[in-house]
Amino acid sequence: MSFIDPAKVPFFTTVSGGKIPAIGIGTFGSDHASADEVAAAVKIAVKSGYRHIDCAEVYGNEAEIGNVLNELYQEKVVRREDLWLTGKVWNNHHGDGDILIACANTLKNLRTDYLDLMLIHWPFPNFHPPKCSVESRSPDARPYIHEEFMRAYRQLERLKLAGLVRHIGISNVTVPKLKLILRDALIKPEVNEMELHPHFQQEELYQFSRDNGMVIIGYCPLGSPNRPERDKTADDTVDMTDPVIVEIARKYNVHPAAICIRWAIQRGNVVIPMSTKERNIQSNLAAAAELKLSDAEMTAIAGIDRNCRLVKGHVFLWEGAKDYHSLWDEDGVICKN
Ligand SMILES: NC(=O)c1ccc[n+]([C@@H]2O[C@H](COP(=O)([O-])OP(=O)(O)OC[C@H]3O[C@@H](n4cnc5c(N)ncnc54)[C@H](OP(=O)(O)O)[C@@H]3O)[C@@H](O)[C@H]2O)c1
Repeated sequence: MSFIDPAKVPFFTTVSGGKIPAIGIGTFGSDHASADEVAAAVKIAVKSGYRHIDCAEVYGNEAEIGNVLNELYQEKVVRREDLWLTGKVWNNHHGDGDILIACANTLKNLRTDYLDLMLIHWPFPNFHPPKCSVESRSPDARPYIHEEFMRAYRQLERLKLAGLVRHIGISNVTVPKLKLILRDALIKPEVNEMELHPHFQQEELYQFSRDNGMVIIGYCPLGSPNRPERDKTADDTVDMTDPVIVEIARKYNVHPAAICIRWAIQRGNVVIPMSTKERNIQSNLAAAAELKLSDAEMTAIAGIDRNCRLVKGHVFLWEGAKDYHSLWDEDGVICKN
């Protein structure tokens, strides 16, 4: 198995000194990869030189990943302290006391006594069953309620103070929500995880997050080509067939995925591509560690943004909400309808 020295992989530093490897392995198997397949991919990734794993309780595979990590420690492939493990609290665990319990479960599943990073996965406590249709609406779902969110966030702050998680952050927020969170946080979020790929560059949220000292983690960095059909729409575009990406990939004799990865890291964010294939896992790591794009290529890719959001979040909508745009505060104010 090919190996890239983790010291050759760039990293980003959080305000409190955490060093996040610029590439992590994504672990959302969705409909196409079972928990065991994802755990096997994590094993290949770590053996190949990855040191960052993006986990979440809702992915339903923490325990399988924890078992694989334990094997890797036993085999002396890696030490716990050399890994960056991210966990995310799911939406049905925002209540008082719930975040501590969710964290405890994640620690137990991942067979560790601390997380490097814990995120609140979505800013809504809205529950929906896994794999539900995009049309389904929970009768309990509500728009963003800042006071409620901060009660959950306070618990995250306490987990950091207690040392159970080393760094804390948020995911799937917007600039208006983030402004309120930054105003009221006692410990500001150090990391913002958001959807980012060449056709969805989120320049405003990106700059705002950086200006406020956050490290950015970009999810779906390849444009999530294997996401479930139910999550695709006719307007969605495909990053990896964009002529600009394809032409640059040809020049370097690499897959377009490599260009998406390296563009993101040079732009300034962490990426967490998911793959179950050894070849892809390794070429993605090589792109992060070894490829270098020119300023002209970076500018060319900056020019292909299509504002194409892939994770629209329909299932978080409350009854009476207009459509998924309501989740994303596109008018610059927190949307309640
Ligand atoms: N915070 C959040 O709300 C949130 C939301 C969504 C996702 N995420 C995280 O972000 C991760 C990545 O998102 P994602 O998995 O949806 O999308 P992605 O990483 O953009 O795309 C993953 C797909 O690309 C294929 N792929 C990977 N490397 C490739 C290569 N070199 N060449 C060709 N195809 C390649 C994989 O298929 P093969 O297996 O065939 O290689 C996989 O199905 C998730 O796994 C999860 O950890 C977080």
